[in-house]
Amino acid sequence: DIKLDTDFIGRNFIYVDEVDSTNSLLLNGKEFTQNGTVVLAEHQTKGRGRKNREWYSNSGQNLTFSILINEYINPKLINILSLGSAVVVAQSIENLFQLNVEVKWPNDVLINRKKVCGILTESTSKGNVINKIVVGIGINVNQPNFPGKFEIAPTSIRKEFKSEVSRERLLSELLNNFEEMFKEASEKPKNVLNDWRSRCKMIGEKIKVVEDDKTKFGVFDDIDDDGFLILKIGDKKEKIHFGDVSLR
Ligand code: BTN
Repeated sequence: DIKLDTDFIGRNFIYVDEVDSTNSLLLNGKEFTQNGTVVLAEHQTKGRGRKNREWYSNSGQNLTFSILINEYINPKLINILSLGSAVVVAQSIENLFQLNVEVKWPNDVLINRKKVCGILTESTSKGNVINKIVVGIGINVNQPNFPGKFEIAPTSIRKEFKSEVSRERLLSELLNNFEEMFKEASEKPKNVLNDWRSRCKMIGEKIKVVEDDKTKFGVFDDIDDDGFLILKIGDKKEKIHFGDVSLR
């Protein structure tokens, strides 16, 4: 049971037991057209992460869902929506559980330096025009442990809050906040970028950036108006469009 006070986000809500990936379902399914449609799956057999990685999530314990944006938006906004989604997840967790939550570029969410949420934003285009944007969000909510090896140590809200939490409450809070962020991003994208900056603890720190085949060391200077990372190497500044960031 989720309580929404949104105009369009989550008004069409689809719950499935099992699917390959909620992102793929919304991107490929011609039947999904209503703006703000949300698909949530208890279990994904091929959950996808950034850079073709796999997103594994215990069935029934966490939140794996995708939000469809099916209205015209400026392509430059896609990145900002993606960063904004991380802010929304952070805000929602903080509001409900008073935990200290930070964001990590491009769009991870961390509690106590451990990853609690990953976001994968994808789009399809017809010719040069983008026609569907899908924001996929995976949050570790009640998963008790994380066996295996990970690039960043994972955690769940339950592990940090030290008690099981309601997925429904978190989801409602999140979808409500998402719609507000969406409106803000369309009207005042700079505010969304500022919200992101104020939640990012790595700005000003020495970092390592791994692009596809290159590794770069520098200082996390800032993000630019499009949401790209500005890396300061010596007295030069370089734009990073895509990559994995860690402290060094
Ligand atoms: C990452 O950290 O690399 C991004 C992970 C994104 C996972 C979510 S779960 C719901 C949606 N469906 C997918 O297949 N991926 C996203």
